[in-house]
Amino acid sequence: MIQIENICKSFSNGKENVIQALSDVSLTVNDGEMISVTGPSGSGKSTLLHIIAMLDTQDSGKYFYNGIDVSAMSESKKAQIRNREIGIVLQDYGLIGEMNALKNVALPLTIAGETGKAATQRAKETLCAVGLSDKLKQKANLLSGGQRQRVAIARAIVMNAKVILADEPTGAVDSKTTNDIMDLFSSINLKTGASIIIVTHDLAAAERCGRKVKIEDGTIS
Ligand SMILES: Nc1ncnc2c1ncn2[C@@H]1O[C@H](COP(=O)(O)OP(=O)(O)OP(=O)(O)O)[C@@H](O)[C@H]1O
Ligand SMILES: [Mg+2]
Repeated sequence: MIQIENICKSFSNGKENVIQALSDVSLTVNDGEMISVTGPSGSGKSTLLHIIAMLDTQDSGKYFYNGIDVSAMSESKKAQIRNREIGIVLQDYGLIGEMNALKNVALPLTIAGETGKAATQRAKETLCAVGLSDKLKQKANLLSGGQRQRVAIARAIVMNAKVILADEPTGAVDSKTTNDIMDLFSSINLKTGASIIIVTHDLAAAERCGRKVKIEDGTIS
């Protein structure tokens, strides 16, 4: 379970320019829930996702992951959770351009020490599930935007994560592919009971989530 309580986060761009990205945000996501997060550009969606993914930390407020205060966790514990339990599709995909699609998707498995044939097979199957069976060996920086986005999705789901966070996972694909990707997230949610949080501008994608959360000016409405 993800429990965010009264979180604030600001960024400072130089001396007097402080941006309050999140102010007093509280959100609970139960195991097995699938929710959408929508809101205008700059409203704090990615910031919130990065904190939930333990890639960033709040200035104040609490984040409990399965009841444990994340601020009290060691860096190595957080890294282990990020690798094994949380899959994230970053807004800019965060792929390694020089690596092929298959190696990018296998990366979390490699980090977890799974390097055999079974791991490669799982990475392959996951890429097939996002419709990229013909691009396994293509370097990420030679893929189209929509293809890169799907590699990022495959990488986020390959570990059978308990928590899947996706930042605009359908921002670079057409409506048919959006629907396929949402089918995939829904079936993972049903089959594995993973909690899924999807940041999206796409109203059709948001409609497919069990609960819709709106964020505006760093505040959940
Ligand atoms: N690393 C950073 N340094 C400085 N300011 C930042 C940083 N990250 C985010 N911000 C600022 O915090 C605010 C919230 O940004 P965030 O990326 O969370 O918005 P968003 O809702 O994801 O927007 P979009 O829909 O455009 O992706 C913005 O005003 C942004 O400029
Ligand atoms: Mg964003």
